[in-house]
Amino acid sequence: MKMLLFRYSTAVICAVFILTGAVLGQDEKEAELGGTVSFSPAKIDPPVNSIIWKHRSSEAVVKAIEWDDDGFNIPNQRFKHITKLNEKTGEITITNLTISHTGHYTIDINSKEQAQFFILTVMERVHKPVIEIERSSNADVVYLRCGHSETIIWKNSTGETLKGTKNHLPGETITVENTRNPDNYYTCTLKNAVSEKTSDPVFERDLFDESNAGHIVGIIIGALLLLLLIIFLCVYLFMESFHSRFPIIIISFNILYNFFFK
Ligand SMILES: *[C@@H]1O[C@H](CO)[C@@H](O)[C@H](O)[C@H]1NC(C)=O
Ligand SMILES: *[C@@H]1O[C@H](CO)[C@@H](O)[C@H](O)[C@H]1NC(C)=O
Repeated sequence: MKMLLFRYSTAVICAVFILTGAVLGQDEKEAELGGTVSFSPAKIDPPVNSIIWKHRSSEAVVKAIEWDDDGFNIPNQRFKHITKLNEKTGEITITNLTISHTGHYTIDINSKEQAQFFILTVMERVHKPVIEIERSSNADVVYLRCGHSETIIWKNSTGETLKGTKNHLPGETITVENTRNPDNYYTCTLKNAVSEKTSDPVFERDLFDESNAGHIVGIIIGALLLLLLIIFLCVYLFMESFHSRFPIIIISFNILYNFFFK
């Protein structure tokens, strides 16, 4: 009963927060470094005589752009040449974004600060990850690492996200076992709010190449030995009808010796 009450009250508190956010018109956006972002007030009642967009960061509050009877003004260097304002809709547009544009944006219309505000986070695009291979003491098990701080998604060749390996922490590994299918592969994808990049695949044949190569070499050597044995027998049976056994064995040893050591 207590648990149920707790759940309901949590739900109610969450709902209140969501509604408050909606009423206040909090608007969050993530934009990539060098990209463009626009914010618009939900409504703007004419007549409009002045608009001021302000940027609030951890350092200070500055005017991003203002408009009034005297026209447009961009007092702060951070917003010069890259900021535009539509005085009809109140929309601000900032291009060539840098990390320093991150922060809260508020708008004053006719010198009155509006309840609605905007939160901007400028972030770098993720870079293409490279899978690092870590051998283990077991020749049929390797660890793969996709060591970055963004969200990491591992997949195998079927395209299935590998179970229990979502949202890996930086430097965390997945364990891959040899399934004896050299065409199986693994990828890791980095993802943040503005971008997503996938590594080149790592194939099983690259992970367990030595054991596979070992098998193939073993098969070839086995086949060669069998062939030699057959030749040896044929020669022996053929020659036996003419000669004594002794020189034949010498010749055969010579053939084998030449084959392997010369
Ligand atoms: C903004 O970026 C564009 C290309 O991305 C460049 O041509 C332009 O010069 C930049 N403007 C400023 C003010 O940095
Ligand atoms: C790929 O991953 C899925 C989910 O873990 C698994 O069921 C499947 O057998 C894997 N396939 C291969 C070829 O490794």
